[in-house]
Amino acid sequence: MLIRAYTDADQSAVVALWQTCGLTRPWNDPVKDIARKLEVRPEWFLVGVETASGPPAVVASAMFGYDGHRGWVNYLAVRPDRQSGGLGAALMAHGEGLLKAAGCPKINLLVRTGNLQVIGFYQRLGYGIDEVTSLGKRLIPDT
Ligand SMILES: CC(C)(COP(=O)(O)OP(=O)(O)OC[C@H]1O[C@@H](n2cnc3c(N)ncnc32)[C@H](O)[C@@H]1OP(=O)(O)O)[C@@H](O)C(=O)NCCC(=O)NCCS
Repeated sequence: MLIRAYTDADQSAVVALWQTCGLTRPWNDPVKDIARKLEVRPEWFLVGVETASGPPAVVASAMFGYDGHRGWVNYLAVRPDRQSGGLGAALMAHGEGLLKAAGCPKINLLVRTGNLQVIGFYQRLGYGIDEVTSLGKRLIPDT
């Protein structure tokens, strides 16, 4: 898998990947989420591309960010037929490298309560469960 920055030509494949992986929600417009990310550190919006069998295909994604205090990752996804092959771990390692090189001391991420089965994946990569409760407030409605 080649890991590279997202380009505009990837949009439909990335949105389809997120839908297939169950990451989209009615209140988050994925196209708007992509447009916003392209305004802030677009080079940290990563896709994993397979070229081995046929034309290049987007099989994974991850959106990394750094707010000057903590690093974040959103929209980590691996196409179901490519899961359990090390691609998710590879994308996370790549993004962690970018964050560390930028001086980011810690990476945080959120797991939806309906997706707790993914916690084992993150623990395998060395992530621990922080004793925090996440709060959020919508500032700009997408719909
Ligand atoms: C989470 C996800 C990105 C993992 O990607 P993946 O490519 O399947 O994971 P990897 O093959 O790189 O797994 C790395 C290690 O974690 C382990 N692992 C993977 N999923 C796991 C799980 N649910 N529980 C425990 N361990 C898990 C693997 O066995 C592997 O262990 P190893 O190093 O001993 O071989 C993928 O399952 C996915 O896209 N899920 C749907 C979207 C999603 O939930 N995203 C995260 C939102 S917070």
